[in-house]
Amino acid sequence: MKTIPKGLFITFEGPDKAGKSTQIKLLEQKLRCQGYEVLMTREPGGTLLGEELRRLVMQFRAEGIAPGAELLLFGASRAQLVHNFLLPQLTAGKIILCDRFADSTTAYQGGARHLDAGFIAALHQFSLQGRWPDLTFLLDLSVEESFRRLQTARTGKHDRFEEEDRKFHHQVREAFLQIARDNPQRVRVLDASQQVETIAEKIYQEVARVLV
Ligand SMILES: Nc1ncnc2c1ncn2[C@@H]1O[C@H](COP(=O)(O)OP(=O)(O)O)[C@@H](O)[C@H]1O
Ligand SMILES: [Mg+2]
Repeated sequence: MKTIPKGLFITFEGPDKAGKSTQIKLLEQKLRCQGYEVLMTREPGGTLLGEELRRLVMQFRAEGIAPGAELLLFGASRAQLVHNFLLPQLTAGKIILCDRFADSTTAYQGGARHLDAGFIAALHQFSLQGRWPDLTFLLDLSVEESFRRLQTARTGKHDRFEEEDRKFHHQVREAFLQIARDNPQRVRVLDASQQVETIAEKIYQEVARVLV
């Protein structure tokens, strides 16, 4: 198995149904075929504590979750993932593909819930311990198309974010695009309405470039 000094940390961002899970699986297969050790994880979640927090933050309905509490639950899940999983596995030279990460918090809790941007940036600094992703793919999709895919792929109950209105999701999209403009060295924006294989090829080309 090939390893990489200091590992490679790749995150996938974008709205629900943009194709994050689809693309992560395809990239994982390609990298495995090349002989790399690849680990997949997700946020919130990825650890035992994180998965418990995920259930709460996505589904808790016994009372409303205060926006600040929501932010800190995501922060707690991330701090656990970074400490218990990301840092040790990257040190061991693994490639990690993560389904959502800090940018989702900036977009959802910052851009759409309007929580303080300075505090969110400080929370990222605290929970990431400086280990930002090496590469982030933003699968950009219109709110209309995201809603359309939600209708067709409907399985089970809505989570708390799927229940938000179009305005909320427009603000999420704009915030993601702003993150991409602010971090051109790290974030690659991909039009998620393209064919699955077209997107997969673009992603693989970018990753291959950092692997050589
Ligand atoms: N590029 C694409 N074009 C059309 N449909 C897609 C595309 N990528 C994924 N899908 C479909 O959209 C749905 C959501 O994909 P998924 O990968 O689960 O998205 P996410 O993980 O971002 O929520 C699935 O039914 C999937 O087959
Ligand atoms: Mg998914």
